Amino acid sequence: LYRQRLSVAWVGYARNDPMALLQLRPGRDDPYRIYERIRLEGPLVPTRLGNWVTTSHTVCDLVLRDRRFGVRPAGATVGDTPTDEVDLSFLDMNPPDHTRLRRLAQPAFSPKQMAGYRPQIEATVDELLDQAGSSFDLVSGLAAPLPIAVITNLLGIPEADAENFARYGTVIGGALDGVQSLSHAARLQKADAELGALFTELFALRRREPADDIISRLVAAEGEQIRPAEMLPMCILLLVAGFETTVNLIGNAVNALLDHPDQWDALCADPATMAAKAVEETLRFDPPVQRTGRFALQPLELAGKPVHEGQFVVTLLGAANRDPEAFTDPDTFDITREHTADHLAFSSGIHYCVGQPLAQLEATIALKTLAERAPTLRRTGPTRRRNSNTIRGPIHLPVHTGTPV
Ligand code: HEM
Repeated sequence: LYRQRLSVAWVGYARNDPMALLQLRPGRDDPYRIYERIRLEGPLVPTRLGNWVTTSHTVCDLVLRDRRFGVRPAGATVGDTPTDEVDLSFLDMNPPDHTRLRRLAQPAFSPKQMAGYRPQIEATVDELLDQAGSSFDLVSGLAAPLPIAVITNLLGIPEADAENFARYGTVIGGALDGVQSLSHAARLQKADAELGALFTELFALRRREPADDIISRLVAAEGEQIRPAEMLPMCILLLVAGFETTVNLIGNAVNALLDHPDQWDALCADPATMAAKAVEETLRFDPPVQRTGRFALQPLELAGKPVHEGQFVVTLLGAANRDPEAFTDPDTFDITREHTADHLAFSSGIHYCVGQPLAQLEATIALKTLAERAPTLRRTGPTRRRNSNTIRGPIHLPVHTGTPV
């Protein structure tokens, strides 16, 4: 698979194919310039592999909301296959299975639950900054451990096991960047099995000793709303989504703020108000999830083009968020911006991110606290980015607080 991806990328490169360029270093470093090249070709562009790609905010939103599209092709719904043999989470399911399972996860992210999580998030951010000292890596010191602590707590993972869950979850989450080699595939398989065993033990524990957490609610619904084989994929989805996205939101926010010192100053002038706005603008300007896509479930017309059943439309969320038809001065990072359209960082329609309130709460508290405690924060080295064209964020962002925190 790796070799195939590499050769497709290189062949495309030779032909000057912007979609292939996205897979290479220029795409990783600055996908937005490549999106602009694709945008010049129109709102819906055919790909060399026989699918479609869109940079348009309107078309992305339409595809994500339109029920004539799905996350799996027609005829491949879970209902047609023995579910116990299918290792899918609800992110990869069409209705009605998607609706049934999403309904189970949703209450954990209600406004009331969010208010309850706030004190733990504030305490964790303070603790992490206390430990970090004045010179630290923003990613390993704050952006990564915060979501890990929060999601393990939400799932009700006992503290003694949290490190193991985090380790295996990180290996599996890393696969969102693509499988790099055969040995990487083997490591993934091992992590998957070990994580499965840990969750299975935890399910048994929560059947015996229920607590106030997501897993206890899942095991209580087992057999009725959720089939036994659906429990593990759902928990892995929540764990990995909790880890692998919020880390990049915090990282991308601090990176953009340090790149634009006037914006960092605007945040520090009023952290209580501006932190949430800085998070919102980061989600538009440099979103952690750059793309998703949908299969056409029937033949249809989109942006004046015929789309056949089974064709895939790549929705470039990062490009939609820079669409000049949706946002004025889209390439300007401006945390005081009044948003005229909704950004698509959390997608749209029935798969709209279920963890959005949590991600935004964590990132807002992280930025607010950082601005209050370290207003003279500065970069001490270059940002190193993840090698991915789907998930965008730094893996290393060295900073100095300027003054002791
Ligand atoms: C779905 C982004 C944080 C759980 C999604 C989707 C996007 C997204 C784009 C939809 C993909 C699609 O339409 O194909 C993000 C970003 C986050 C974030 C940018 C952080 C900044 C979280 C967190 C959790 C979470 C913290 C949970 C702890 C989920 C779940 C889904 C999802 C369960 C599947 C929803 C469904 O299929 O109905 N997320 N996410 N996400 N996200 Fe997030």
